[in-house]
Amino acid sequence: MSEQNSFLKAVRGLRPDKTPVWFMRQAGRSLPEYRRLRTDNDMLTACTTPDLAAEITLQPVRRYGVDAAIFFSDIVTPLYLAGLEVEIVPGKGPVFSDPVLDPKDVDRLTSHKGFDPDCITQAAQIACAELDETPLIAFAAAPFTLASYLIGKTRSKNHLEARAFMHSYPDAWNRLARWCADMSAAFLAAQIAGGARTAQVFDSWVGDLSRADYQKYCSEHSRVVIDSAHAHGVPVIHFGVGAASLLDLMRDVGAECIGVDWRIPLGEAVKLIEHGPGDRFAVQGNIDPAILFASQQVRHEHIVQVLAEGEKAAAHIVNLGHGIPPNADPAILQEIVDQVHESR
Ligand code: CP3
Repeated sequence: MSEQNSFLKAVRGLRPDKTPVWFMRQAGRSLPEYRRLRTDNDMLTACTTPDLAAEITLQPVRRYGVDAAIFFSDIVTPLYLAGLEVEIVPGKGPVFSDPVLDPKDVDRLTSHKGFDPDCITQAAQIACAELDETPLIAFAAAPFTLASYLIGKTRSKNHLEARAFMHSYPDAWNRLARWCADMSAAFLAAQIAGGARTAQVFDSWVGDLSRADYQKYCSEHSRVVIDSAHAHGVPVIHFGVGAASLLDLMRDVGAECIGVDWRIPLGEAVKLIEHGPGDRFAVQGNIDPAILFASQQVRHEHIVQVLAEGEKAAAHIVNLGHGIPPNADPAILQEIVDQVHESR
């Protein structure tokens, strides 16, 4: 695949002729063809059946003509494959049967040393064979976001239980976060072995951390995941939600491209991410998912604004500021893809 590909160029901070666009959660419940495939298969079965995972990965590329595919799976798939009991509860997300409540639980978890990556690699291979020139993005969770699903009996507000655990048991936290990093790194490696050409590391819940705690408890573990993708020669997009206060620290963890949510304009994000003149970074984002439900004119103007802000970065990949909501109208997403492609 040529590095002239607009998405692959942009990830590395080089401005392509055409601004690339894809969407987080482009494969999923907003697509009728996805809902049809999922009626007979639960989420984790779909994720671990190569033909199904590949087909779902390809659906949005066929439909929208987006510039990248993201591997269809979930951040907890490697833990499921490692033998942990987990269910993806509609409206809630992953729920583990035996959550981490104290340091002993970390010893139990870390005794799971890895997982068989075959079904992941096979799914990526099947998808890449049809994708041809369109790159496949591998993805995995950053350790804080993955650990936040493992710790505590319920999902607490602002991830209080996960943060309390890290303060109460720093050694156990570090062992848990390092184990999560190794699982995410192995998950990325399986997708890259199947042909993925970029990786996105999701730290969706990092915005709940203070700067001090991010540096003390998380950044070194996130770096393990990002370094692992780099070791396979693959560039990385690093994304967090509500992370405006952490963007400079996230940038220091080493990814080529920073994903920005809708809460700050991309131009402001660029000022936080770049350390000085000549320091030119790629950014990804940051259409407000709420405008998918606004009028055509409001949507059009919002996209024009996002594109103008994106000009302030070395390179810009258009995306939403977080995933596509399940009730979004695919016709509106198509309109956005077309507007971006017609823009330059
Ligand atoms: O972006 C894509 O199209 C690729 C697929 C993808 C999914 N999950 C599919 C999915 C990706 C990249 C993820 C990552 C993921 N999973 C994250 C990080 C990204 C983010 O959204 O911040 C997180 C936090 C999870 C955990 C998770 N899994 C949640 C919160 C949910 C939603 C639960 C719900 O019902 O609202 C899931 C389930 C999930 N993952 C679905 C999909 C399509 C829905 C399950 C279904 O279709 O039944």
